[in-house]
Amino acid sequence: MVMKGKKGLIVGVANNKSIAYGIAKACKEQGAEIAFTFMNEQIEKRVRPIAEEFGSSYVYELDVSRPEHFTALRESLQKDFGEIDFIVHSVAFAPKDALDGEFVNTPKSAFNIAMEISVFSLIELTQALLPIISSQGSILTLSYLGSVKHVAHYNVMGVAKAALESTVRYLAFDLGKKGIRVNAISAGPIRTLAASGIGDFRFILKWNEANAPLRKNVTIQEVGNSAMYLLSDLSSGVSGEIHYVDGGYNIMGMCAVEEVDGKATMVWDTLQ
Ligand SMILES: NC(=O)c1ccc[n+]([C@@H]2O[C@H](COP(=O)([O-])OP(=O)(O)OC[C@H]3O[C@@H](n4cnc5c(N)ncnc54)[C@H](O)[C@@H]3O)[C@@H](O)[C@H]2O)c1
Repeated sequence: MVMKGKKGLIVGVANNKSIAYGIAKACKEQGAEIAFTFMNEQIEKRVRPIAEEFGSSYVYELDVSRPEHFTALRESLQKDFGEIDFIVHSVAFAPKDALDGEFVNTPKSAFNIAMEISVFSLIELTQALLPIISSQGSILTLSYLGSVKHVAHYNVMGVAKAALESTVRYLAFDLGKKGIRVNAISAGPIRTLAASGIGDFRFILKWNEANAPLRKNVTIQEVGNSAMYLLSDLSSGVSGEIHYVDGGYNIMGMCAVEEVDGKATMVWDTLQ
């Protein structure tokens, strides 16, 4: 049991399709004790039964746009756990109209919201919980390829994820002297609530499946297992890393091609 004796906070479970749910499952299977948060009442209704499923009664309110929630969260965690060993930040949001059409038209308001909710929230969460993170603690966030490459419709979220990945490196340096590690997983596309806001997401899923070296999309279980490794002492030498869990898609320099009847053919075409 790799996570036995570890206590952690997972932010970003909306339902059992959430990437954060897959991470919670993998950590629980390896013996971790987990606290959860919910953004609002509607999500609380779904998170409480999930916490119960994981044998946890630790469920706190956290809307990352509300600074007072961070203070209350630290106080509750300190009272209930003393110290925590890991934090998962699995939160992102941008207004839907900024995730379609041309990036050049991104409104300033949408840019600011995406940066606040998807990037600054990691910094604020770290600031708030730093006093109660154990030495050798581990912090993990979730990113996407749209941070380093153009992906249709990802638009302002791509810019936010680029800032998030940079944030991981700067936090990793600052917290390194305390023994605390900070990493990100760049996950392949997965059908979740957040993903449903991205234009033509079904196309992105099909494209990834056709062109990734593993010829499949990843599951929240696969992301969960890799996350568990990054949250555990197995990765004690790893910090500031952006670890791809995407079936290998990020290595491709062009779309996947196979020989069909002696002719180079796009795998995509063979699936249509
Ligand atoms: N699904 C994908 O294809 C994919 C791929 C790569 C990275 N990611 C990233 O994974 C993370 C989790 O997303 P998901 O796909 O599991 O979707 P999800 O909808 O299940 O999770 C997103 C979470 O963000 C939370 N959230 C949004 N605004 C918030 C706020 N103001 N305060 C607190 N919480 C807030 C929601 O409550 C929800 O729990 C995100 O950072 C997302 O960008 C997703």
